[in-house]
Amino acid sequence: MQKDLVSIQEVTVEDLRRIFEIATKMKSERPSYPLKHLQGKSIGLIFSKSSTRTRVSFEVGIRELGGASIFLDQADLQLGRGETIADTAQVLSRYLHAVIIRTHEHAELVEFAKFSTIPVINALTNMFHPCQILTDLFTMNEYSEKLEGVKMAYLGDCANNTSNSLILAAKLSGFDLVLSSPEEYAPSKAMMDYSGPGNGSVAWEPDPFKAVKGADYIYTDVWVSMGYEKETAKRKKALMPYQVSREIVESAKSNVKIMHCLPAKRGEEISDEVIDGHSSIVFDQAENRLHVQKAILALLLDENCP
Ligand code: CP
Repeated sequence: MQKDLVSIQEVTVEDLRRIFEIATKMKSERPSYPLKHLQGKSIGLIFSKSSTRTRVSFEVGIRELGGASIFLDQADLQLGRGETIADTAQVLSRYLHAVIIRTHEHAELVEFAKFSTIPVINALTNMFHPCQILTDLFTMNEYSEKLEGVKMAYLGDCANNTSNSLILAAKLSGFDLVLSSPEEYAPSKAMMDYSGPGNGSVAWEPDPFKAVKGADYIYTDVWVSMGYEKETAKRKKALMPYQVSREIVESAKSNVKIMHCLPAKRGEEISDEVIDGHSSIVFDQAENRLHVQKAILALLLDENCP
């Protein structure tokens, strides 16, 4: 893998194969897997937004690989008092072995990675959420035993960090993605025009019932991403027709699986009966964050990782 995981654009087909292989082993051998890949290493987590899954799965994963994690709320750092990102990145590179960052502006993460001499992992920005989406690919591969030719329909806000990352993932791994939203929340032209190494097709379809036809997976995410709270009422009104409801699920394949990166706003982007129903794999996705992120850390930080 390259030095940093800033977005899925840096991930190669070979990286993906290795992540799947190592994560599968780490998952099946979790109780006995040796504490070795991060032995003697300290990993900083700098978060300026709330997190349940990302923070806990990274901290547990670091411990299970023999390393130590240091959680840093961005507000507690001198960054909050005006120290530059460049200076902070250079200083932390002298203490730590990697930094995992959750922040608002993607450009801040890119700036940090530019001045850091240690690996920087994106734990979510306004643009991308690569750890989540690599986990989603792993989860789909567990269920379908392949990605090429598998169809996913993504309903809701198609211009957020999850949908942007899914577009890059389809163009990396070869699954076919149909995004469905009103025009106002359609994916950007830049994202749609991105060309990756895989053969996955990416399309936008404003009719959610057409979008889910033949889908193996239906994926959704909250309509109001962190930082967009002022738009809550407007977004709820515009996106209600895109709720993953029983009627939507019944319009896809009979064995369709339902995905959500969580946290969910039940009754908004997904109904209770769907998220709790037999087709839902949302907690498998959440669990796999741990295994996939451990594999990413091992690949980035242990030169002897097989
Ligand atoms: N999916 C996800 O990133 O969850 P958290 O915001 O709880 O970390």
